[in-house]
Amino acid sequence: MRPLSIDSINPAILKVQYAVRGELAIKAEEHRLKLTKDDHGLPFKRVINSNIGNPQQKGLDQPPITWTRQVCALMEWPALMDLAPQVFPKDVIARAKELQEEIGSVGAYSHSQGVPLIRKSVAHFIEERDGYPSDPNHIFLTAGASAGVSLLISMLITPPKSGILIPIPQYPLYTATLAQHSGIAIPYHLDEASEWSTSLHEIEGALEKSYKDGIEPKALVIINPGNPTGALLDEHTQEELVKLCEKHSLVLLADEVYQSNLHRPESHPFTSFKKIVRRMNSPVPLFSFHSISKGVQGECGRRGGYFECTNIPDAILSLIYKMVSVGLCPPLTGQIGVDCMVRPPKPGDESYPLWKKETDAIHAALASRTKTMADRLNKLPGVSCVSSPGALYLYPKLELPEGAIEAAKKAGKSPDTFYALQLLDETGICVVPGEGFGKKDGHNYYRLTCLCPGVEEYVGALEQFHLNFMKKYGGL
Ligand SMILES: Cc1ncc(COP(=O)(O)O)c(C=O)c1O
Repeated sequence: MRPLSIDSINPAILKVQYAVRGELAIKAEEHRLKLTKDDHGLPFKRVINSNIGNPQQKGLDQPPITWTRQVCALMEWPALMDLAPQVFPKDVIARAKELQEEIGSVGAYSHSQGVPLIRKSVAHFIEERDGYPSDPNHIFLTAGASAGVSLLISMLITPPKSGILIPIPQYPLYTATLAQHSGIAIPYHLDEASEWSTSLHEIEGALEKSYKDGIEPKALVIINPGNPTGALLDEHTQEELVKLCEKHSLVLLADEVYQSNLHRPESHPFTSFKKIVRRMNSPVPLFSFHSISKGVQGECGRRGGYFECTNIPDAILSLIYKMVSVGLCPPLTGQIGVDCMVRPPKPGDESYPLWKKETDAIHAALASRTKTMADRLNKLPGVSCVSSPGALYLYPKLELPEGAIEAAKKAGKSPDTFYALQLLDETGICVVPGEGFGKKDGHNYYRLTCLCPGVEEYVGALEQFHLNFMKKYGGL
């Protein structure tokens, strides 16, 4: 065996799959390169990246929030404060000074758990949101929510026979991280017929099966609002889920990164699991994740987020601290992004009117695109789609004709991957096939984001493609 070959690598790494950046995304990149040449021969002018919830990606139209970028600019180069004081609103300068006093240079390592002042800001944000106390010492700032999820899964799994309950469809971070740490994904299916609701009965069934298979379930993952479904949990279901965790001694991992992406908050509000756990006075160990990548910040590349620990024993908190200190500290620029998210300008502050205008516009664009796209997709033959009340996505279901299923089999692809590849080749629209999120056998889906401008043009192209595809394979 050579010193470095596929056979010499940790076999767990070979099992990791991550569809959001998989075959479709790679092909989209190839098309993008081709399009720079005059004789590209492709039947479209641009690639539309509808595959990833990356709001500030080139080609999309979500601008960064001015408030965040101004604070970050002053933190990067404090001399700007003196060189161009007229450019920056007073509250921006005050915030940058406060942060500089605490942090010093963003080029220095910080406390491994995150800057204490920023953790205090996070705790205050959580208290305001939930009406229950939050302890800055129980908050860990992270390089995006992914880093926290990954760390905690690595700590919870005890190979070879332990697993974590994950929703299907799921965000593939969970299966990928479980595969990496030789953990077992214990799937429970969400119910599409009732807006992708979470069923206690389904989870109980999944638990029973795991006990029979000799797998020890360690934790329950809930993504609320959901990805890819956009579903929101009601408080009654949340309480039942907490009781289920109590009954089965499960840790609750609450992925709440889309908590401020709510399109119909009157009928589908968000309640955090922290609030539910505290209100019930439950002893369930809970880790809650949040991020600057989503919401209206969309600061994916800055890599900032946090997790809050509720009902976690001190000995475990110390171990978490030990593990995060191995990585020294989360990026300072990401930590500052977290501060800007949890402590935005208030009415009366100089930055407030612009901040309000920018954030309102982002919420409105997302809600209107989600509705327009869902309405139009639902009119297509063989397509049905829940109009997501939250998050950044739609997850349409495809009833494909037998001819397409046969052709996909011949091509060695799942039917939804087969569909998505042709969609990309013919229109330049890049989506993620349902295969990447896990799904029930025989069902086909794809996920597309609601972040792309020019909805009319690209939903039109999608409709035309779908009708042609259905005709080609005998579905019309
Ligand atoms: C449900 C969910 N959790 C976590 C993440 C990771 O986000 P971050 O950029 O904060 O690592 C994502 C990203 O799309 C997500 O959809």
